[in-house]
Amino acid sequence: MSKGSDNIHPIFKDLLDREYKEEFLKQRAVALWFTGLSGSGKSTVAKGLEKRMFESGYFVQVLDGDNIRSGLNNNLGFGEDDRKENIRRIAEVSKLFVQSGIITLNTFVSPTREIRSLAARTIGTDDFCEIYINAPVEVCEDRDVKGLYKKARAGEITNFTGIQSPFEAPEQPQLEIRTDQLSIEESIDKVFNYILPKIELK
Ligand code: ADX
Repeated sequence: MSKGSDNIHPIFKDLLDREYKEEFLKQRAVALWFTGLSGSGKSTVAKGLEKRMFESGYFVQVLDGDNIRSGLNNNLGFGEDDRKENIRRIAEVSKLFVQSGIITLNTFVSPTREIRSLAARTIGTDDFCEIYINAPVEVCEDRDVKGLYKKARAGEITNFTGIQSPFEAPEQPQLEIRTDQLSIEESIDKVFNYILPKIELK
């Protein structure tokens, strides 16, 4: 039970239906949940996909770990509880978008099965699509786009996923993208082709 919930009365009935908004936007909303190591390519694929989807007439919002952590979640760190709270909040935000008919591209390390299951349950499993952006940790470390692996190895960052903190690979992701084997364009194509039938209004 959340704090003060006795005196909270959410309104749902008076709001316009999600279906009505989906008709307006000519799409079915879904939350694509990109999970993977830092440097695996989640944000790169999501940004390219956002552009591709938008140009194809779909209305899409990217929700990205680094962006959300510099605003809404700037009071959270990388311990287990904070990561869980990070994902809880973002899943609630993502749900609001999806309920408004908007497709979300969520790019969060979300390192454990428990955390991803929390996201799926919060958003609703029918609206949740788990995509594993997979590149071996050696490849991510070699890329080290943000210089964070180097800092983690030097002990300047603690709890860095893949180095001092575990990443549990999804057991049955709906889609897996090997960014060490595919080009960025091929990765975007693969997600786009997979998702198209799910977002087309029947
Ligand atoms: S999550 O684990 O809570 O899902 P999130 O996706 O929001 O992580 O943030 C990950 C981003 O924060 C990484 O891409 C990286 O840029 C940065 N970061 C800073 N410290 C860490 C850390 N200890 N572990 C993982 N990512 C970190």
